[in-house]
Amino acid sequence: MTAFPGHLDTDAIRADFPVLARTVRNGNPLIYLDSGATSQKPAAVLDAERQFYERHNAAAHRGTHLLGEEATDVYEGARAKVAAFIGAEPGEVVFTKNATEAINLVAYAMSNATAGGGSPGSGRFRALPGDEVLITEMEHHANLVPWQQLCERTGATLRWLNVTPDGRLALEQLEAMLTGRTKIVAVTHQSNVTGTIPPVAEIARAAHDRGALVLADAAQSVPHQPVDVAALGVDFLAFSSHKMLGPYGIGVLYGRAELLEAMPPFLTGGSMIEVVRLERSTFLPPPQRFEPGVPAVAEAAGLAAAVDYLTGLGMGNVAAHEESLTAHALDTLREINGVRILGPDSTKDRGGAVAFEVQGVHPHDVGQVLDELGIAVRTGHHCAWPLHRALGVQASTRATFYVYNTHAEVDALAEGIRYAQRFFGARQ
Ligand SMILES: Cc1ncc(COP(=O)(O)O)c(C=O)c1O
Repeated sequence: MTAFPGHLDTDAIRADFPVLARTVRNGNPLIYLDSGATSQKPAAVLDAERQFYERHNAAAHRGTHLLGEEATDVYEGARAKVAAFIGAEPGEVVFTKNATEAINLVAYAMSNATAGGGSPGSGRFRALPGDEVLITEMEHHANLVPWQQLCERTGATLRWLNVTPDGRLALEQLEAMLTGRTKIVAVTHQSNVTGTIPPVAEIARAAHDRGALVLADAAQSVPHQPVDVAALGVDFLAFSSHKMLGPYGIGVLYGRAELLEAMPPFLTGGSMIEVVRLERSTFLPPPQRFEPGVPAVAEAAGLAAAVDYLTGLGMGNVAAHEESLTAHALDTLREINGVRILGPDSTKDRGGAVAFEVQGVHPHDVGQVLDELGIAVRTGHHCAWPLHRALGVQASTRATFYVYNTHAEVDALAEGIRYAQRFFGARQ
């Protein structure tokens, strides 16, 4: 693993990822352009999980034996590493199953507070009829459906900011959309379709001025750019390990300490309780209050190794590398007649997700032809159906980039699209 100032040594990086050595359909080398769905994993991450099982496997926070202590150290060590990675305190990092569960945790904690749960300070989480939840039209379903459901449970009203034709947020709507009744603003920190990076810090300031809470969906930002929760000024931040070189089954909810302290739990059971009687129970302080059950320690070990790997590369270098790939993709795909790129046409405030339409060829057909060439992309609405509707398309093909991708792979994608156009007799 090697980083040079401003860019990455992709040859060295690729050697760290065993799967990149394999061939796929028709004996083609794998060109993996689907890291937005899930990233590949370096050997260091696989080794960390294996080593945990081989040397330390025990239930964290339970056993009084040596292995139990070691497992607890591994788990809490991972929490400290993740916290440092996003500029938080360890007690502000709650491990969840993934970003989806992290967002649901806040939404369910809010309806539990509405039903009377939580400490005396939990009033700010209550959502009553007439209260409002503000999201945006570019959200992944994971940051949309939980808020719809919160509104259904509480009688609050869901509102949203629209997107502009080039896939940015219609920020001029923000002032009017924020009212004294806005309880929470939930916004993506990087679109998984258009790569758009909304000005979350600015949105957070405006939301806080009205007394609203702010949650950023960082599933596509934490893996790809330096993220500092203090600089962003958000109250909550959600992301998934599996999109940042780590294992499946573990994700993160960052929450500001004083808010987690006042927030009622979402899931309940063992490991999160203080005193249990048959009639009622009291709960531990955060983060344990939000982590019921035996925790995913091997996954935490893998996530810690992923954080080490990314830190070794330098998140600034990661972002610069992806910006150069994205710029190359925008330039190359723009030159193909009949291809329309969704979202911003420059890399300004835009990450490495490039979704596009090929006129006259259905995205699934584009994806299938690319797959025949060994190029893995995603097709469909990418769990962002309202965004596709807003941009006037049913579905799209999406290429997403990460630390192991190269300019040559972007060229192969462009060639593949041209081949698909010829194959289907589409206008070029
Ligand atoms: C922007 C965004 N938010 C949330 C999610 C949900 O992540 P997970 O499925 O890991 O919970 C995704 C996954 O694609 C995403 O791209």
